[in-house]
Amino acid sequence: MAFEMVGVVGLGTMGAGIAEVFARAGIQVAGVEADEQALARGRAHLERSTGRALDKGKLTPAEREEILARVTLTTSRADLRDADLVIEAIPERMDVKAELFAELDRLCKPSTILATNTSSLPVTALAAATGRPDRVVGMHFFNPAPVMGLVEVVGTVVTDPGVRAEVGDLAVRLGKTPVEVDDRAGFVVNRLLLPYLNHAVTLLDHGVAGRDDIDNAMKLGVGLPMGPFHLLDLIGLDTAYEIMNVLFDESRSDRHVPSPLLRSYVAAGLLGRKSGRGFYGDPGDGPQEKAPARTVHVVGSRELADRLEAAGFKDTEDADVVLQVGGSTPVSGRTVRVQLKGQVAELATSVLTEQEAVLGARDLLKIAGYTPVPCKDRAGLVVDALLYCHLNDAVRMYESGYASIEDIDAAMRLGCGYVEGPFELLESIGLAKVRDGLRDLHAEWRSPSSAPAPLLDKLVTAGLNRFPRP
Ligand SMILES: NC(=O)c1ccc[n+]([C@@H]2O[C@H](COP(=O)([O-])OP(=O)(O)OC[C@H]3O[C@@H](n4cnc5c(N)ncnc54)[C@H](O)[C@@H]3O)[C@@H](O)[C@H]2O)c1
Repeated sequence: MAFEMVGVVGLGTMGAGIAEVFARAGIQVAGVEADEQALARGRAHLERSTGRALDKGKLTPAEREEILARVTLTTSRADLRDADLVIEAIPERMDVKAELFAELDRLCKPSTILATNTSSLPVTALAAATGRPDRVVGMHFFNPAPVMGLVEVVGTVVTDPGVRAEVGDLAVRLGKTPVEVDDRAGFVVNRLLLPYLNHAVTLLDHGVAGRDDIDNAMKLGVGLPMGPFHLLDLIGLDTAYEIMNVLFDESRSDRHVPSPLLRSYVAAGLLGRKSGRGFYGDPGDGPQEKAPARTVHVVGSRELADRLEAAGFKDTEDADVVLQVGGSTPVSGRTVRVQLKGQVAELATSVLTEQEAVLGARDLLKIAGYTPVPCKDRAGLVVDALLYCHLNDAVRMYESGYASIEDIDAAMRLGCGYVEGPFELLESIGLAKVRDGLRDLHAEWRSPSSAPAPLLDKLVTAGLNRFPRP
């Protein structure tokens, strides 16, 4: 199909960006909004976004004019009659979207492909609202659409495979990487990302570590572009909670139980950036108290001992603070177990650890050039607990036949800005290390979802450190 003209219904956060993406690829766009006021907002959105690209030198004034001229703005759905494809980006409500799909089906020519940008609703149910279910797909863009390189192309059991392929080719023409997936809640990215974010909220709720410490651990210790609480505030806590509910309704897995803490934030109207306050933005946010350590004893890391000695600390056995790198739960109140992960030093405290020792250890590790992350002495501490379960989810997703290793890696790189996809990360950490970490987590929490995925276990047993790729 040539895709000479497309329709975009709803020109909010996503729709305006999607209209811009089509227009930039030289395609005529009819943008439809509910009323004149919303249409003006959509126009302003397009002008702002292309204006920014102009300021950054990514578009010339002439190119910007051409892009804007390709978009016709209207409040009449009838203007979509001759579109080759119509994509909707109206609010995430099944009844409203189903009504729109039924009307588009009546209005549009028989060959028009109808697409939805839904993040969590079943595409199959939208297809069923039309008389052309074989020509209905999900085309899931990421925010901001002009910047993010991924499009999840969602086919249902009734989608014509040719239509799916054409939409995939269209995504390539738009300069995006398409990932073909079936109609399962959350598709690839949200199905992997949201349970990990929800898990971070659970650790906070259980008091395993604090908000800033968990964010630091995942950003600096793993190299993710953003910590989970910053990301949740950006996504919107209500949206995150809703997606967790959709995932749980489909899977009934313990991994998908929405955190009660997330629910109480939503109930309190603290939705993140959109409401001005979520996990961040509390006026009570302030610096933590300080208690400088005087003497230190380091066990298990020559490098840490050297760094502290170079900073002028004398290593003595009867020190105020003992930093034990690795090993098992310490049995002295002065000893803090330390796990070094890149720039991050996790400080595990047990029921015996004295508060003075924790504060002293935190300062010492800062002086030694690490970002300290105080946490409770639980299996996996913060980084491994969050990361290994997240990676395990990716293995289970592949194992269930939902998506290929390449697609899952590409989706997480392009959709979430990861430097490495989950399988690349698994291989660079070492499959055996992750499998063993998951076994420890499972032994401690006994949650079925933390048991190593059977494929991971089998590969390690076979002595392999690589997933099978064609
Ligand atoms: N925001 C994101 O990060 C994101 C990312 C991927 C997918 N999505 C999905 O995209 C869709 C839209 O989300 P959004 O964040 O852009 O919402 P939004 O609220 O910013 O925009 C929705 C727009 O639809 C318009 N609208 C409402 N009813 C309409 C109708 N009957 N006809 C025409 N226009 C109508 C509204 O005026 C508004 O401009 C949702 O399905 C959402 O799940 C959102």
